[in-house]
Amino acid sequence: MSNDLSNGSQGNGSAEAEFTTEDEALQVLMDGDIDKVMSGLDRIIEAAPSYEKLFMRWQRQHWSTEDFDFSEDIRQWNDPDMFTEEERKFLLFGFSQFFLGEERVTVELLPFAMAAPSHEAQAFLTTQISDEAKHMVFFDRFYREVLGMKANDIGAMLDTQRVNVNKDWETLFDGILHECAERLRLDPTDFPALVRGVTVYMIVIEGTLALTGARFIVKSLKQRDWLPGFVAGFTAVNRDESRHVGFGVKFLADAIKADPANARIVEETLQECLPVASLVFVPPWVDDPYNFETPFYHSSEIFAYAMKALSKKLAAMGLDPAVLAGDAA
Ligand SMILES: [Fe+2]
Ligand SMILES: [Fe+2]
Repeated sequence: MSNDLSNGSQGNGSAEAEFTTEDEALQVLMDGDIDKVMSGLDRIIEAAPSYEKLFMRWQRQHWSTEDFDFSEDIRQWNDPDMFTEEERKFLLFGFSQFFLGEERVTVELLPFAMAAPSHEAQAFLTTQISDEAKHMVFFDRFYREVLGMKANDIGAMLDTQRVNVNKDWETLFDGILHECAERLRLDPTDFPALVRGVTVYMIVIEGTLALTGARFIVKSLKQRDWLPGFVAGFTAVNRDESRHVGFGVKFLADAIKADPANARIVEETLQECLPVASLVFVPPWVDDPYNFETPFYHSSEIFAYAMKALSKKLAAMGLDPAVLAGDAA
């Protein structure tokens, strides 16, 4: 297993030889291969690391948005023969849904941190806020330097990309996620609201949509040797996301153990979100949202991967994945 991040960040692998099982599980997040990062998430979930361990991992996994060399990405994006129109359009759709999503999760996480039930959970969520802000800044840099977009500030840049996201993205982020954050902002002691919010944020948005979408984007680009600076940076982004999902699974597993009523909140939240969430993967121009081709994969592949990813997380929380039957594609 490699301890090196793929482009310039440090992983203090040699100092970690004495680590116990949950640390070994977390170690896989240092790998530069996206599929290893994903399977590492399964190991993290099985080991159920504490919030303190996740915080320690964050301290060791720092990277900078300036770490990545975009020179080859710039050359490729400016080469008129490098991508077809279809490929460019599809990539812009995918990149923009991530870029705008990173901005939304940065802002909406603040009330979650206020509502966290312990200082350990709170400390972890403050690290996550800084991660999400870094992800947003990484995308802003990529849009300016590689895609050649111009805007006065991040807000103006986001406005220019709004046209690329689909309606279901808006329902999930501007509707459902925003309402979760508002409930917690109005009453940070509302624990059922926190259970619902963590289900939407860490399990649906990060654990099911973001990690799945990212896996397909990174794999597709890597196979073609496209946009290597972006691939390196986006892999670092998803290493962070794996940690965030680890927090969500730990929080919900504990909540369900403490009170079975929380299991019903998780299930009801999933039943409400999944029909919308699966459509977030769908480019706005396709005819059949449940059966479509992209330049890189068929819809059935991404839907199957997402459902498998979600089932694993539910099992780790002590829930029966059969609760998903009848929902989503
Ligand atoms: Fe993020
Ligand atoms: Fe995240």
